[in-house]
Amino acid sequence: MYLLRFVRAAFAVGLVALPLCTLQAQSAHPALTPPMGWNSWNYFGEKINNADVRAVADALVTSGMRDAGYIYVNIDGGWQGQRDARGNIQPNRKFPDMKALADYVHSKGLKLGIYSSPGPKDCAGSEGSYGHEQQDADTFAKWGIDYLKYDLCSYRDIMRKESNGNRQKGSALMQQAYEKMHQALLNTQRPMIYSLCQYGWDAVWNWGPKVGGNLWRTTDDINDSYARMSAIGFSQAGLSKYAAPGHWNDPDMLEVGNGHMTPDEYRTHMSLWAILAAPLLAGNDLTKMDDTTKSILMNKEVIAVDQDRLGVEGDRVTATGPFEVWMKPLQGGARAVALFNRSRYDYPITVRLNKIGFHGPVQVRDVWSHKSMGTVHDSYTAMVPSHGVVMLRLSK
Ligand code: GLA
Repeated sequence: MYLLRFVRAAFAVGLVALPLCTLQAQSAHPALTPPMGWNSWNYFGEKINNADVRAVADALVTSGMRDAGYIYVNIDGGWQGQRDARGNIQPNRKFPDMKALADYVHSKGLKLGIYSSPGPKDCAGSEGSYGHEQQDADTFAKWGIDYLKYDLCSYRDIMRKESNGNRQKGSALMQQAYEKMHQALLNTQRPMIYSLCQYGWDAVWNWGPKVGGNLWRTTDDINDSYARMSAIGFSQAGLSKYAAPGHWNDPDMLEVGNGHMTPDEYRTHMSLWAILAAPLLAGNDLTKMDDTTKSILMNKEVIAVDQDRLGVEGDRVTATGPFEVWMKPLQGGARAVALFNRSRYDYPITVRLNKIGFHGPVQVRDVWSHKSMGTVHDSYTAMVPSHGVVMLRLSK
C-alpha cells in the first residue's frame, strides 16, 4: 500500500513531468505541500478590517511565523460591500483599498487570500459571486489576490430549487459551480490557491481535484473546544488516499491560541493536523500570542511532518478504545507516529513497529520535547497525558 502511495506522490511532486503539468493546468497553483498561513474567521469573524489584516501581517513577520512557513494572510467573510453600476464587487468601508492592502502584504513577503461564495450571498448574507464569477475572479487578480476560499452558503438554495430535490442533480450543480470559478481563476492567468468550502458534502474528495481544488473542507465548522476539534480530527481516518501534492483534505482551520483548550489539547490539534497533512491556517490573534501558543504553532519538527515533500497524508493505525496510534510516511523512509490519548486519564500507549511497516533497530525522536529517545527494536511505549499526544519521528 505504501509503495503505491509513494509512486502516486512521486508522480505528483514531479519526478514524472506529465502529471505535474496536468496538475498545474487543473489548479493554476501547484500547492505541492499543504498551504500554510492565517485566516481571519476563527478569531475576528465578520469584524475583520484593514488595520487588523495589516497588524496580522506585521505579526507574522515579527513573531517568526512567516519564516516558519505561514505565508498566506486570508480574509474570510466580512470584507464585501456592494456592486457598482457595472456589477464590479466593491469592498465595504472597513477595507478602503484592497489593492493597497495586497501591496502591503506582499511587501512583507506574504500572500493575500480572499473569500467568496458560488451563491448570491455568503453565509453571513454579504455579496457572493453568483452570476459574476469571471468578473470577480478578474477583480481578485487585479487586486493581487493569491488565494480564494469559495464557500457554498446560499448556493444550497439554488441547488434545492433547480434540482427539484433530486440529489444527484443537486450534486452535479454544485460541482459545476465550483468548476465555473475554477475556469474563471484560470482565465485570469494569476496563480491562486483554490480552496473549496462545502463542508465535505457528496464526498468532495472524489471530485475536488477535477474542479481544480487545491484543498477541500472535509467537515462542518471547527470551534475552539476539544470536543469539536477531536470529533473532526479523528473522523478523518480513511481519507488519506485522496490527498496528494496539489490537492489536500482540509479538516478546517486551527484554533490553537484562542484560549478554550489546554496546551495538551492544542498539541493534539497541531499534531493531528500535521499527521493529516492538513493545511495549517492559524486562526488566533497573532498580535497577542503567549509563549505556549508560539511553541505549538512554530514547532519546526511538527511543521516538517505536515510539510514533508513526499506529500502522503497519514492515517489511523490502531484505535483501542480512546487510545489511538496514527502514522504518516515521510520522505527517505522515515515515519511520523502520534500516540493520542482521548481519555480523561493519563495512560501509557504503545506503538508496535510491525504495525507501521518497520522493523528494528529504529531511531526514535520525540518532536515535542525535541529529544532523541534512543533505539528501539520491537515497540515503543510512552505515557500520554489525558487529551494529549506524544509525537515521534522514527527513522532507520
Ligand atoms: C462558513 C465556513 C466558515 C466561515 C464562515 C463565514 O461557516 O465554513 O469557515 O468561512 O462560513 O461566514
